[in-house]
Amino acid sequence: MELLERLWKKGQDFLGVQYPIMAGAMTWISNHRFVAAVSNVGGFGCLAAGNMPPELLEQEIDKTFELTDKPFAVNLITISPNYQKHLELTVRKKVPFIIFAGSFPKAAEVQAAKASGAKVIAFASNDSIARRMVNSGIDALMLEGSEAGGHIGHVSLIILLQQVLLKMDDVPIFVAGGIATGQLMAHLLLAGAAGIQMGTRFILTKECEVNPRFREAFLKARARDAIATPSVGSELNVVAVRALRNKGMGEFTDLQMDLILKNRSGEITKKEAQFEVEKYWMGALKRAVEDGDIDHGSLMAGQSVGLVNRVQTLQELYDEMIADASSTLELAKRRLGA
Ligand SMILES: Cc1cc2nc3c(=O)[nH]c(=O)nc-3n(C[C@H](O)[C@H](O)[C@H](O)COP(=O)(O)O)c2cc1C
Repeated sequence: MELLERLWKKGQDFLGVQYPIMAGAMTWISNHRFVAAVSNVGGFGCLAAGNMPPELLEQEIDKTFELTDKPFAVNLITISPNYQKHLELTVRKKVPFIIFAGSFPKAAEVQAAKASGAKVIAFASNDSIARRMVNSGIDALMLEGSEAGGHIGHVSLIILLQQVLLKMDDVPIFVAGGIATGQLMAHLLLAGAAGIQMGTRFILTKECEVNPRFREAFLKARARDAIATPSVGSELNVVAVRALRNKGMGEFTDLQMDLILKNRSGEITKKEAQFEVEKYWMGALKRAVEDGDIDHGSLMAGQSVGLVNRVQTLQELYDEMIADASSTLELAKRRLGA
């Protein structure tokens, strides 16, 4: 525990939490109860703005403040139609941390977030985005590898670690994608990460409010079942999504083809087509998470789904991560003869 304390001090200080193990925002899942529960056990919760009506996001923020006095973040999707309203609201509500996801925030948006007193974290899925985000004035980076669940980039965490984590030390760097054990967390902290973020493993906590069929699918799935959607051609610039293989994944390929044809015939613009794609994912994820439609809904999950096979409380999850990380660090010490 002492070694762990030393290693993650940077992350503790930056986030203002006991355990810099972040529960990544998950659209339709990371609501005020879950976020506050994570922050109250000493972790770091992130409220998912997704494409919520702004009034609903306002309520979610207010309720999170009511349930916890610990730090938490609002995760904003820059490509969501409600993004500008979400940003304005999050700034006005003085949420302590703002995380930009989806695409890059403009420098002025980063400045507006910081001017509210918030600390700003931005996602980077490759090295040039990481550099660009640091130059735009963000306070910390979230390096997310393509093993992750949800919308993903092209590069795996193992490459990003070498391109970014082991090279840059301008700002604290948090890492995500494929992490589900305290053992790996220990090695990532040794490599210089300020902390970690997980999504998939948090689905299998008692406090996470998902339909039992959604959770059951996670319990059964193997790592290889969490596949990335194929991008049909390059006309639409579709961001890949990693989810469990089901009929809905096939339907998404049909949707892409349909949208490409509509775009070619001038029926819709490229922007409208991309908007339709995002609308599809928001709707499909909601159908799976809330209604339990595991055949046609979207079962967004990372490859780490193959590493988790039981439901725990948040407290048990944090205790286990810490115990496993601590014994891994002791083992490393013995290996070094220290
Ligand atoms: C069901 C689901 C929904 C997600 N929704 C979002 C989101 O709204 N915003 C975001 O930035 N990341 C989202 N993510 C990514 C997670 O916040 C997290 O970074 C990712 O799950 C980490 O990788 P892991 O799945 O291997 O743990 C989502 C992931 C999942 C599994």
